[in-house]
Amino acid sequence: MANLFATKPVDKLMAEAAEVGEHSLKRSLGPVNLTALGIGGIIGAGLFVRTAAAIADRAGPSVVLAFIVAGIGCAFAGLCYAEFASMIPVAGSAYTYSYATMGELVAWIIGWDLILEYAVAASTVAIAWSEYANRVLDWFGLKIPYQWTHSPFEHDPTGLHGMMNVPAVVILLLLTLLLIRGTKESAFVNGLIVVLKVSIVLLFIGIGWAFINPVNHTPLIPEVTTYTTPQGITHPYGGIMGILGAAGVVFFAYIGFDAVSTAAQEARNPKRDMPIGILGSLVFCTILYVLFSWVLSGVATVQDFREAGREASVAFAISKYMHGYEWLSKLVTVAILAGFSSVILVMLLGQSRVFFSMSKDGLVPKVFSDVHPRFRTPYKSNMLFFVFTGLLAAFVPADVTGEMTSIGTLFAFMLVCAGVWIMRVKRPDLERGFRVPAAPVVSILGIGVCGAMIYGLGWTNWMRLIVWLLIGFIFYFSYGKNHSRINAPPPEMPEGISLSK
Ligand code: ALA
Repeated sequence: MANLFATKPVDKLMAEAAEVGEHSLKRSLGPVNLTALGIGGIIGAGLFVRTAAAIADRAGPSVVLAFIVAGIGCAFAGLCYAEFASMIPVAGSAYTYSYATMGELVAWIIGWDLILEYAVAASTVAIAWSEYANRVLDWFGLKIPYQWTHSPFEHDPTGLHGMMNVPAVVILLLLTLLLIRGTKESAFVNGLIVVLKVSIVLLFIGIGWAFINPVNHTPLIPEVTTYTTPQGITHPYGGIMGILGAAGVVFFAYIGFDAVSTAAQEARNPKRDMPIGILGSLVFCTILYVLFSWVLSGVATVQDFREAGREASVAFAISKYMHGYEWLSKLVTVAILAGFSSVILVMLLGQSRVFFSMSKDGLVPKVFSDVHPRFRTPYKSNMLFFVFTGLLAAFVPADVTGEMTSIGTLFAFMLVCAGVWIMRVKRPDLERGFRVPAAPVVSILGIGVCGAMIYGLGWTNWMRLIVWLLIGFIFYFSYGKNHSRINAPPPEMPEGISLSK
């Protein structure tokens, strides 16, 4: 029983992370790469698809305020991640931080929970990628037939069933191979994608600004009513509740900045650069999101978003109101495709790094921490996660997985906020590259805001999370607990590495 609550000493964690040689990850990332990694993981389906849904169902033009509320919620968690990542720069992120503060069982729970955030999100986004890739192929008359772009559980109005989502598997495979080839190479490709998608988003903001109709922004906060979606779900619309509900919907758009912390063991100077990567990407995307949602909600009416269907919303707004800019609507599709690719890349990277740490600790098999002798990446882990995410993407439809991702992430955020506070009390001596200002206040606010968003997701999602965690317990008690290396001696600390000030 004692092991369940045993914490892993930070000194041991640091000694393991400081190991060098062919069995360790390669330190190749600087501040620009890390910030780009964050932006790569952040801008995706959340911005391009969920903004329109939030306008239509919940908030109208006050979606702008919803982005600010969700951004503030993430900022609390982001500050806490930044302190942890600069203090314990190891690959496991929230998993490792929990191991150091709340013990093995909580660490296991969060490591298991992060599969929801990273692997399940990668599959979900791969399915969305498949749909947009098919749209682009359609421009060239090369559309892939329905059977090969859908799971067996879906059928079209004529009764034609899907067989397997092939493009989703292909993109997962390509990005897995890139990750195996090297973190630096992956960061380079991610950088190119980020430049492309951010440029197109800026282009939309710049050109769209002139097409804003002030009538669409008045009143900014619509009167309180309700709205029933075509699927028959009724939501509060307008007022404060509309803004809070929309914040829960667009929260998904911010997920990804925390993945930067999983690359801590590959950062050249983690103490300085991790906070820059985490907070820099978060601030940048918050500003971009607010501007984007201001323009989108100003160009088209709420009715447009309700009628156009969520997926087509940006393209629809452009073709209906921004005459002469058809090409921009095509570019937006390209940006969406690019955005999805980098989100998948960063999620797959994050997933393999969390399991890398769990495997080093003995909680999951050693295969997850075997490093390729030349590329210095956890290649076997990458391949295994390709199989897992590929099967999900090929054969399972993506409807509930988005919300599972949100609840899993919020849960991790809460533990990280609590962990920072615990560490301030237990180990005030540790050197921190970045310190959360007014730590207990920020931790409490972070826990409160994330808890409120979890509350807002409703009991179906709570039940799904609980079932997922119960499955995790079976794995822990049948494998992890017996193989845990918590009592193993730490490796020798290399010279020149110090822990305390
Ligand atoms: N933030 C990521 C997206 O919006 C998960 O796709």
